[in-house]
Amino acid sequence: SSTLTVSELASKLHKDASEIIKHLLFLGVMATKNQDLDDDAIELICSEFNVEVEKEIILEDTDFDKYVQEDDEKDLIERPAIVTIMGHVDHGKTTLLDAIRESKVTAGEAGGITQHIGAYQIKVDNKKITFLDTPGHEAFTSMRSRGAQVTDIAILVVAADDGVMPQTVEALNHAKAAEVPIIVAVNKMDKETANPDRVMQELTEYELIPEDWGGETIFVNLSALQHEGIDDLLEMILLVAEVEELKANPKASAFGTVIEAELDRGKGSVATLLVQNGTLQVGDAIVVGSTYGRVRAMVNDLGRRIKSAGPSTPVEITGLNEVPQAGDQFLVFKDEKKARQIGEARQQKSIQENRSEQTKVSLDDLFEQI
Ligand code: GTP
Ligand code: MG
Repeated sequence: SSTLTVSELASKLHKDASEIIKHLLFLGVMATKNQDLDDDAIELICSEFNVEVEKEIILEDTDFDKYVQEDDEKDLIERPAIVTIMGHVDHGKTTLLDAIRESKVTAGEAGGITQHIGAYQIKVDNKKITFLDTPGHEAFTSMRSRGAQVTDIAILVVAADDGVMPQTVEALNHAKAAEVPIIVAVNKMDKETANPDRVMQELTEYELIPEDWGGETIFVNLSALQHEGIDDLLEMILLVAEVEELKANPKASAFGTVIEAELDRGKGSVATLLVQNGTLQVGDAIVVGSTYGRVRAMVNDLGRRIKSAGPSTPVEITGLNEVPQAGDQFLVFKDEKKARQIGEARQQKSIQENRSEQTKVSLDDLFEQI
């Protein structure tokens, strides 16, 4: 991965190219002014001139994969399941999310004012569960298209009076593609026209066979409106979570995904992050998508200021230079300089990608006109 020619390096060092060539010759390398130098050669020459090289982060080195360290097995601990609710329009997704939150958060956390940060966490039997408050469909499409997999368990809401509808099928296909276990919540059981058997029957066509019928899919009948069956559903989520053996390393550099983000007049860039591994701390140097910064303040789903957030915790942070996009991934760096370098390189890369994307579009348009 060569970066500079002899004369480019010379001008950076405020030297004459001939001086560089002389040094190279001294090292046994014959070079011309336009010769490309590799990283090692650049470093060697710089040291000859007593200049310390600050290696620029090249664009290929901006993938977080390169900086995420493998977790030590012994550091892994159980983490809360991250659950997304999906289903057809009007089948009761929002009502169910609200019913779950009301049943647990307000009762257990006196004084806490729930605020909308795109995700919330509840406690059942001393175990936490994280619910994503984004439309399930979006959580899968936009986030997965960015390579982010945030969901551990999908709740497929099907209204008992309506049965399987087009978006039900779409939703279950998303969950299947992501290989996420599905729990079917048969909702609106309070309605006279409710027909849960039909829902089960219809879903067998999509290989979601209830346990009672010899299959492996968990079905829970409930009424989100009347808060009935909510506890059963939560028990089932814990059961599936246990089978999945969800683990994370709280000691790792925090890594995760942006759930939502916006520009606030007073606070600047405000982003809801879901910590997926490690522990996020106030003051951390962080790269988020193609922006970066330092975590200035951190607020949990109850609107309380917190100093650190472990795996599967949703938090709202401020301190980023720009507003990232939902589905962007983030990673904490120990060194602020490194965070800045990688953040800037990722920004540059995203600008380049956008530019080439635009060029492509305009070329396509051109061809269409011909
Ligand atoms: P979209 O966000 O538009 O896709 O809808 P949704 O799936 O979030 O459905 P929502 O929770 O908004 O519920 C749609 C309608 O169904 C509302 O009028 C709810 O009051 C009603 N509803 C939801 N759950 C139940 C239930 O258990 N029983 C009855 N009878 N009505 C319900
Ligand atoms: Mg809704």
